[in-house]
Amino acid sequence: MIPLSKPVIGNQEIRMVTRVLKSGIIAQGPRVKELEKKIAEFCGTKYAVAFNSGTAALHSALYALGVRKGDEVITSPFTFVATANAILMLGAAPVFADINEDDFNIDPFKAVKKITAKTRAIIPVDLYGQIYDCKNLKDAIGKAHISILEDACQALGAESKGKKAGRFGDVTAFSLYATKNITSGEGGLIVTDKKIIMQRCQIFRHHGQSGKKRYEYYDLGYNYRMTDIAASIGLAQLKKINWLTNRRIRNAKLMSRGLKNIPGLILPTVRKNNKHVFHQFTVRLTEDFKSNRDKFMLYLTKKGIGSGIYYPEPLHLVNHIKKLGYKKGDFPVAEKMSGQVLSLPVHPLLTKKQIDYIIDQIQNYLILR
Ligand SMILES: Cc1ncc(COP(=O)(O)O)c(C=O)c1O
Repeated sequence: MIPLSKPVIGNQEIRMVTRVLKSGIIAQGPRVKELEKKIAEFCGTKYAVAFNSGTAALHSALYALGVRKGDEVITSPFTFVATANAILMLGAAPVFADINEDDFNIDPFKAVKKITAKTRAIIPVDLYGQIYDCKNLKDAIGKAHISILEDACQALGAESKGKKAGRFGDVTAFSLYATKNITSGEGGLIVTDKKIIMQRCQIFRHHGQSGKKRYEYYDLGYNYRMTDIAASIGLAQLKKINWLTNRRIRNAKLMSRGLKNIPGLILPTVRKNNKHVFHQFTVRLTEDFKSNRDKFMLYLTKKGIGSGIYYPEPLHLVNHIKKLGYKKGDFPVAEKMSGQVLSLPVHPLLTKKQIDYIIDQIQNYLILR
């Protein structure tokens, strides 16, 4: 089976984890600090704070931006549920704005139309590994006092105009989950240039304690700390991030070349001046495609090729969010994309031979129909 994703774990990860296990410091310690320093350097930001998941990073970032009960936060309905859950966890309301068809990210012009007196922040999502339309969103927001939290959970290393993800918001969240471009098993980080955001995130991840004085609590907080075990895997992964990213980009190019000119199959687009890091290689199957998505996926599985749908349901239609008053038809582009998208393997361990096999099998399927 050619899996849809596969973590690239080698001797370096094993060596670094072993060193931590033998050191006696296995919870948050020096390796977490080192990972924070290196991620901030990598992104070109002043600060980074590590967490035990991307969800914890998003939750903490929103807290640090001052989002509270009764506030509204604008975001995309076409993302992983964690983006909206982080808003709900603070008692705030997710307010959706529809997406662009070409890059699957929030449409800045639709987003600004959702601004009200209650809007505290906007969360654009760098979906599948491509930075959102940051220039138009910033221009559209103008002087309004609305913070941007960039959800770059899928986009570590992505760039726009030569600047890395992490620099397109007041604060940015990343995930180091097992399938992400680099991993620590589970894990997450925020990066920011703002000292106050960094400090609030540190306090929130540590049950509201500042870290200066033990058992002195400033506010409600959580145990969102990353362990040194996870951080050591993350550090080993970070050493090879350029290789991992370049392989994904190469694989995406080969896939795009092999699948071009298929009626009804729309290839991923890379926006001008963007470096897409292809966390996912996601195509769209339109009505002109010779088959339907379910049958096609079944065929791929039979041929030993993994595929996945990210995401089968837009967030305004999932159970706990629909209750807020959303209904089918509210965000037609997101709904259409949910019915059309299909992610194919693009991970760094794919060989040229495997890619040729995937392309051949898809071509064969279409010839037979
Ligand atoms: C867009 C997006 N936001 C948030 C998250 C949450 O990250 P985690 O799974 O590390 O909590 C993910 C990861 O799955 C994601 O893809």
